[in-house]
Amino acid sequence: MANISTSFMGLNMSSPIVVGSSTLSNHTDNIKRAEDAGAGGLVIHSLFQEQIELEAMEIEEELLISSDHFPESLTYFPQMKHAGAREHIMWVERARKEVKFPLIGSLNATSKGKWMEYARQLEEAGCDALEVNLYSIESNPTKSPKEIEERTLEIVADVKSCVSIPVAVKLSHWHTSISNYSDKVVQAGADGLVMFNKFHQPMIDIEKEELVLNWSLSSQAENGLPLRWIALLSGQLDVDMAANTGIYTSDDVIRQILVGAHITQMVSALYCHGLEHITALNTEISQWMDKHGYDSIEAFRGKLAKHNVNDPYAFERAQYVSLLMKAHDPKAQYGLVHGYYPIEVRPGRVSG
Ligand SMILES: Cc1cc2nc3c(=O)[nH]c(=O)nc-3n(C[C@H](O)[C@H](O)[C@H](O)COP(=O)(O)O)c2cc1C
Repeated sequence: MANISTSFMGLNMSSPIVVGSSTLSNHTDNIKRAEDAGAGGLVIHSLFQEQIELEAMEIEEELLISSDHFPESLTYFPQMKHAGAREHIMWVERARKEVKFPLIGSLNATSKGKWMEYARQLEEAGCDALEVNLYSIESNPTKSPKEIEERTLEIVADVKSCVSIPVAVKLSHWHTSISNYSDKVVQAGADGLVMFNKFHQPMIDIEKEELVLNWSLSSQAENGLPLRWIALLSGQLDVDMAANTGIYTSDDVIRQILVGAHITQMVSALYCHGLEHITALNTEISQWMDKHGYDSIEAFRGKLAKHNVNDPYAFERAQYVSLLMKAHDPKAQYGLVHGYYPIEVRPGRVSG
C-alpha cells in the first residue's frame, strides 16, 4: 500500500486528511476517534475574539463591582454564560495529553487585541501550529479594502511575531484579488494558507417574518473554489496550502493534491459520515496511488497545477463560452453530461 503521509508547514502528518475546526473537537473522545481513524491532524474549534473580549470585560466587572462606575457595554451581555478564553486554553491542555497527532489551535480574529497573549498560551498548551481565521463581514461602505486588509495583515504579523510554531491563515475568498491578498499574507509571515473559510449565510423565515441563523453543511460542488485557487497559486507562492470546503470523498482529496494542496481539511463530510469515514478514504487514496504508480503524495502533488498544464488559462476562465462551444461541437469527445473536461498535462513536468 502506498504511503499517504505528508507534511504541512513542517508538521509530519500520517494522512492528507485533517479534521477542520468545528464542534467535532468539543469532546476529547472525538479527538481520539479522529486520531484512531487515521486523520493527519486536527484543528481545534476557534478561540473567538468575543470570548477574549467578554472575559476581559468580566475581569473589569469584578474590579469595578464596588465602584459607582460601570461599563455600559456590560449590559449588552447581562447574564451570558460562556466558555471563556482561560477555559479554552485549559481544555486544549487536556486534549493535548490525549493524542499524539498534530493539533492546530485556532484563533478567530477580526481586530488587533489581546491576540498575542492567547496565541502564546495556545502554543504553551501544546498546539503544534496555529490557524488564524480572519472572519469578518465588512458592511461599512466608508472603510476601504486597503484599510481592512492592512488591519488583518497586522494581526498575522503580530501573531507570527510572538510564537515559534507555524501559523496558517484561513482566508475568505471575498477579495477583489485573492492572489494579491494571499501574497501579502505570506509576506506578513504566514507559513500556510487554508483555502477557504466558509461563511454561514443569513436566512429569512417567511412565515414568522424573521431572520433565522442558518447552519448548513457544504455541498461537494463548493470544492471547485479551493481547487481553482490552489491550482493558480501553488506555483507562485512559497507557502503550504490546505484545501477546505466541500471535500467529501477520496477523489476530492486526490484532486486537491493534484493541483498543489499539501493537506485537505474536512468538516461537513465528517458530520455526515462520522469520523471513521477517514479510514476508508485513506485506504482509497492509497489504492489510487498504487494504481497510478505513485509511492508518495509528493510524487503527484501539483502535477495539475496551473504551471504544469498545457492550457495556461484553464483555471482562469470565468465564462461559460468555451464550455458551451464544446457542448455544441459535434466532434467534441466530451459532452456536457460528463461534467469534466480533461486538461492536458505537459509531459515530464511535476512540481516538487
Ligand atoms: C458546526 C461547525 C462549527 C465550525 N466552527 C468553526 C470554528 O470554530 N472555527 C473555524 O475557523 N471554522 C469553523 N467552522 C468552519 C469549518 O472549519 C470549515 O471551514 C467549513 O465547515 C467548510 O468545510 P467543510 O465543507 O468540510 O464543512 C465550523 C463549521 C461547522 C459546520
